[in-house]
Amino acid sequence: MANLDASVEKILTTDYVGRPFVYMETTESTQNEVARYAVKGASEGLAVGAGYQSQGRGRLDRQWISTEGSSILVSVLLRPDEDYVNHIVIMAALALESFIGELDNDIPAQIKWPNDILIQGKKVAGILVERIKSDQPGVNDIVILGMGINMNLDTSKIPEISDISTSIYNFTGEKVDLIGGYKLLFENLEKYYESLKMGTDLLSIWKDKLITIGRPVQIENGGEEFNGIAEDVDDTGSLIVRRQDGSYTSVVAGDALIVSEQIT
Ligand code: BTN
Repeated sequence: MANLDASVEKILTTDYVGRPFVYMETTESTQNEVARYAVKGASEGLAVGAGYQSQGRGRLDRQWISTEGSSILVSVLLRPDEDYVNHIVIMAALALESFIGELDNDIPAQIKWPNDILIQGKKVAGILVERIKSDQPGVNDIVILGMGINMNLDTSKIPEISDISTSIYNFTGEKVDLIGGYKLLFENLEKYYESLKMGTDLLSIWKDKLITIGRPVQIENGGEEFNGIAEDVDDTGSLIVRRQDGSYTSVVAGDALIVSEQIT
């Protein structure tokens, strides 16, 4: 969409998130674009959005699928302090949930551990956090916060994801204006990022919202699969799972599929 970035910047009320905002019709991955700006010294808040990604990537080496102009595909450059760098994912999940609520209050968005946003059990948005370690003392790491939000994508027409994914359009039946969407997203991100910087306990807020806690789950953790009950999350956001033999495993970065069968 021509000049989408200028149109977003014109109506944006943030101080730094989405400033500047660079929109590209096509790229490999907005993550790579932001990495290029970051190493050249771009400041916190710069964002790159795309209409289409030829190599969009998700967590756990998965692909992130979209069709032209149908989704919000965006990466934001952050330079967080050491104290809160590990909570960027949590902050983004809360910001995304709030964003969807502000788009349309009737959309029942939920957060599934660790950071999938679901509508009625199907994924509508995902978060990918990539970190480039700083090799200079006193200089913060670079964090590239990538978000894919299925806005106007008709997931029912994409066999690879139709069973597990949905979109705002699939739920409401109405197309969403992407300019207004980017604006709202950047504003929610800045709000939650600022509150993280101020020391708000976002982990507790996130934990209370997680639909995963207390549920039987099937864990996929670095090639290992097991079932158990998701009992809790610890201070780092890892999921504490009670296995069928009664032992506990802390899952740092896997996936937790909520299953219906009851385990005792
Ligand atoms: C996930 O749920 O696995 C995370 C998906 C993240 C996808 C976004 S789309 C914008 C940015 N660029 C990418 O290549 N990936 C992220």
